[in-house]
Amino acid sequence: MKSNKTIIITGTSGGIGFVLAEYFGKKGHKVYGLSRKTAESPYFITIPTDITDNNQVQAAITKVLNDGQNIDLLINNAGMGMVGAVEDSTKDDIWKLFNLNLVGAVQLMSAVLPAMRAQKNGQIINISSIGSEMGLPFRGFYSASKSALDKVTEAIRYEVSPWNIHVCSLHLGDIKTKIAENRVKTSVSDPYKITFSKVHDLMNSHVDDGTEPLDVAVYIEKLILKDHWKAHYYFGKFGQKIGVPLKWILPQRLYEKLMKKYNKLD
Ligand SMILES: NC(=O)c1ccc[n+]([C@@H]2O[C@H](COP(=O)([O-])OP(=O)(O)OC[C@H]3O[C@@H](n4cnc5c(N)ncnc54)[C@H](OP(=O)(O)O)[C@@H]3O)[C@@H](O)[C@H]2O)c1
Repeated sequence: MKSNKTIIITGTSGGIGFVLAEYFGKKGHKVYGLSRKTAESPYFITIPTDITDNNQVQAAITKVLNDGQNIDLLINNAGMGMVGAVEDSTKDDIWKLFNLNLVGAVQLMSAVLPAMRAQKNGQIINISSIGSEMGLPFRGFYSASKSALDKVTEAIRYEVSPWNIHVCSLHLGDIKTKIAENRVKTSVSDPYKITFSKVHDLMNSHVDDGTEPLDVAVYIEKLILKDHWKAHYYFGKFGQKIGVPLKWILPQRLYEKLMKKYNKLD
């Protein structure tokens, strides 16, 4: 990897994004972090940006270009979770989630692509989830928002490959961050309260026992050295990654039975 890449990472005020930004900054890359809050770090520059506001996104990318930088790599990392029963989810909550996890990420891609086309190269990593490959109980809209981004990723690969621009989804398993605190939480109605509470405790314990964000940085460092990218990469604990091929291989009833067991729903 060349030592002076310019990397834009969204969601760098905490969690995975902060660790990625510091990691690549320490390695000598020029890193710009886009988030609403600013995390102090000598290793990257924060441009305070709400990525759901396209004017702010455009202004941030203009600032990077005005600094005289190419844009070598975009890591679309900003995102949030949402928990609650599908039945109880409000239109406002669903929109808020999709507006960040899907529309925000797309706005970033649209903002960097003119520069990447002009320089005839570029890399874009859309941070997705292993949970985008299956409808997770009480996280249906989170799965759906990441799954929607995956489909856009698959489509845009065909559109931008003539300019040597590579795009992929990086599906993460549970990573130890504050994502659980930052999730949109819908109110849970009585019929779902008991099962929701079991699944909710379990999902939070999975995040607490998750992989370290630093391991994601090391994985991405290797990924960006590759000349050709697949559309999908999976990173996380074996017990979570295996859920993806099992969904394709196993009879559906058996797969759902296993998912119920895994989620303590049986
Ligand atoms: N942690 C996991 O287990 C896990 C698993 C699979 C996938 N992921 C994905 O990994 C990504 C990072 O998650 P994380 O665990 O690091 O979450 P996190 O700790 O909650 O951090 C989320 C980051 O997104 C930023 N963000 C939220 N809304 C924003 C907005 N409107 N504009 C700009 N930035 C915004 C936040 O900064 P501000 O609030 O300052 O804006 C924050 O820096 C997400 O896309 C998540 O879905 C995480």
